Amino acid sequence: MTLRIDEPASLRPFNSFGVDARASRLVTLEDPTDVAAALALLAEAPRALVLGGGSNLLLAGDFDGTVLRVALRGRRVVSAGENDAIVEAAAGENWHDFVCWTLDQGLHGLENLSLIPGTVGASPIQNIGAYGVEMRERFDSLEAVDRHTGERRRLGPADCRFGYRDSVFKHPDGERWLILSVRFRLSRSFEPVLDYGELRAELSARAAAPRSDGSGHRDTDRRNAPATADGSPPPDAREVAAAVVAIRRRKLPDPAVLGNAGSFFRNPVVDAAQADALAAAHSDMPRHPAGPEAGPGADGRPRVKLSAGWLIERCGWKGHREGDAGVHERHALVLVNHGNATGAQLLALAERIRASVRERFGVALEPEPTIVR
Ligand code: EPU
Repeated sequence: MTLRIDEPASLRPFNSFGVDARASRLVTLEDPTDVAAALALLAEAPRALVLGGGSNLLLAGDFDGTVLRVALRGRRVVSAGENDAIVEAAAGENWHDFVCWTLDQGLHGLENLSLIPGTVGASPIQNIGAYGVEMRERFDSLEAVDRHTGERRRLGPADCRFGYRDSVFKHPDGERWLILSVRFRLSRSFEPVLDYGELRAELSARAAAPRSDGSGHRDTDRRNAPATADGSPPPDAREVAAAVVAIRRRKLPDPAVLGNAGSFFRNPVVDAAQADALAAAHSDMPRHPAGPEAGPGADGRPRVKLSAGWLIERCGWKGHREGDAGVHERHALVLVNHGNATGAQLLALAERIRASVRERFGVALEPEPTIVR
């Protein structure tokens, strides 16, 4: 057995907020043959928590129990067809490294999801998404083990019940699954998803500017891409990835430098009547169709998604700091730890933000990360 056990252990290196919470016991799973032993340790613990990259997590205090950190590694092409391929990565693989590896294989579909912090195993849990693509659109299946029975199962999209920043794994009936590896169906031909205005603008700016970094080979990836409306050559997959990386670096703090868990709240979905009333009072308020999955509102009209970042900024929180807990100066949706903020301090700040948005706009914000109390 090669399970590593630390008692007690600081979880600071293992949550992207950099909160210095302690666990009574930290178990690190690196070898797939140790899965049963790791599950046995979880079963005997007073409380149990499974940790992936810890990038979507707020530890509100010390954890009086056993934390299992899934550090399984490995990635491979499972099957390669003429037009697409199934690829697999173990749960502990770093997400961005995996995305880069798929591009190296000449496989497309994950480029818009570049630079999202965290692990492959965590990607289905909140159905990560960015710049017009959600993980579920590229998902094939995953292998999970039932924490209670030890049974291994391959779960498909329907089993996973993906939603906006949501899946079965965030709900009580899915908590029993420990994700071991995830498979994606990726395409050999490149069909860029350029729905997000900011991504199109970044690509246009980069196409106009002389290249200084040598990145982005305008190669065969482009052959299948549709021509752009302005007649400029369409980008290749690496250029899209580079543009996403540039936008993220510009707007979002790097967890290695400034602790954070990405967006702290989901973008709220409201009835069309409420969105109309808010837009009448605030003509610059961004709003988007929430999509069929959100269902109709009380008035039968399609529901509307608002920008939590805009609502929070309007309440005056952008760049706000209380001790070491703060709101990022370039993106109001991101709470940050300037050094030694505790989980309780970050949570208290989040509560105040929530209360002020509710009071000013009548909109309820829901946290996006998992909060462990
Ligand atoms: N905005 C502001 N002030 C701010 C931030 C945003 O006014 O401080 C407004 C702007 O009008 C902006 C709009 O909000 O145009 C949307 O902002 P942005 O494009 O940054 O996207 P977001 O809705 O805030 C979502 C995801 C991000 C993802 C981006 C890009 C959620 C909760 N967040 O953010 O995901 O990277 O879109 O697709 O859906 C994450 O989940 O951790 C995450 C970073």
